[in-house]
Amino acid sequence: MSSTNSISNQTEPKNGTEKPVVRVKVLSERDRRRLLNHFLALNDNDRLLRFGSVLTDELVTRYAQRLDFERDTIFGVYDDNLRLLGVGHLAFIARDAHPNRGSNTLKERVAEFGVSVDAKARGMGIGSHLFRRAAIHCRNEDVDTLYMHCLSTNKVMMHIAKKAGMSIQRDYGEADAYLRLEPASPGTVLREAMDEQVATLDYGLKANAKAALKWWTRLSGGKIDKPRS
Ligand SMILES: CC(C)(COP(=O)(O)OP(=O)(O)OC[C@H]1O[C@@H](n2cnc3c(N)ncnc32)[C@H](O)[C@@H]1OP(=O)(O)O)[C@@H](O)C(=O)NCCC(=O)NCCS
Repeated sequence: MSSTNSISNQTEPKNGTEKPVVRVKVLSERDRRRLLNHFLALNDNDRLLRFGSVLTDELVTRYAQRLDFERDTIFGVYDDNLRLLGVGHLAFIARDAHPNRGSNTLKERVAEFGVSVDAKARGMGIGSHLFRRAAIHCRNEDVDTLYMHCLSTNKVMMHIAKKAGMSIQRDYGEADAYLRLEPASPGTVLREAMDEQVATLDYGLKANAKAALKWWTRLSGGKIDKPRS
């Protein structure tokens, strides 16, 4: 069974262009180990694109240990085994502490977004969904400016940024992209709440299925094949 079955099973592509359903869930302290595994699985080039330099395993571990779930919002997409296929990190920063010194906003805080998707799960819309969820969350948090910093050679991320309508400034091989967001509305609040509820339900079902399989395997002395989903 492929690790990406959970998302591809939810919508069978009718033609080659249809993308699977992707559920984005807010992560918490209990996901720290999964986050670490996700980041450690990124190869050197991915680490360069995601963190701006090729972090060693030790530095990646330190980064994962220091993630602050109270201050920032971290989103994830899980597979059937509750392994993280994609992670979006939305860091909130005081306006004056940002390098742009609040030149794009009058709000108290701005947000900065970083994202990574497991190499085997790319091209299925996970990165785009994580970005869209981050943008709607910013609106609901009264943040109207979303920044993203990446290498200008990062064609996939540039594509996602342009598609989202981000303004992009290129400078010495690097690119700073920012998006002005509309204020929150009852629709954005409802949509985020519903997305989170559905993702939480989906997580619960996967967790139950995983626990049931474990129990079943133990009961059968490990002789019974995993049931087909
Ligand atoms: C960037 C990244 C998050 C994208 O994740 P993903 O789940 O594959 O992205 P999606 O499937 O949502 O979208 C990919 C889009 O890029 C397009 N694309 C793919 N290769 C491309 C290329 N070489 N040039 C331009 N566009 C490209 C796809 O067609 C798709 O566009 P569409 O939605 O309009 O069809 C993932 O590649 C990754 O983790 N990279 C390493 C870390 C990184 O670069 N992080 C970003 C910096 S913070």
